[in-house]
Amino acid sequence: MSLNYSKKTLDNFRNPKNIGEIKNPDATAEVGNMVCGDKLFFSLKVKDEKIKDIKFLSFGCASNIATASVMTEMVKGEKLKDAKNFDWNRIVEELEGLPRQKVHCSVLAVEGLRKVISEYEKKNKTKQKNSELPKIRKNKKIK
Ligand code: FES
Repeated sequence: MSLNYSKKTLDNFRNPKNIGEIKNPDATAEVGNMVCGDKLFFSLKVKDEKIKDIKFLSFGCASNIATASVMTEMVKGEKLKDAKNFDWNRIVEELEGLPRQKVHCSVLAVEGLRKVISEYEKKNKTKQKNSELPKIRKNKKIK
């Protein structure tokens, strides 16, 4: 059975954008689909609460690669709070449609985006909490 992929999907599959891994990322996350077994790994760099850079590695199908490629292009420069609400329909529109049985690939990409942002927020909260802790004074005399 052959699937009808749009030209844009095939272009993004053949020449994916943002493929690879960021050195010294602010956060990483991996997601997978239990049914098809496909996986995506994301690395993220943040500046001023905006996505400075995002890259992915795919262990999946053609539309897994194409959806992650367009999504990472679309979210670069977006505020984290906006990127968290990124809708997978935007990927399908951008790719000028996906075969019905491949729509879940775009959902998986968005799941990965949300997870990597949430990993970043978790790390940042811990950093903030630690910086709020009172500093222990050395040589303080105990009475
Ligand atoms: Fe499952 Fe593409 S077939 S992510």
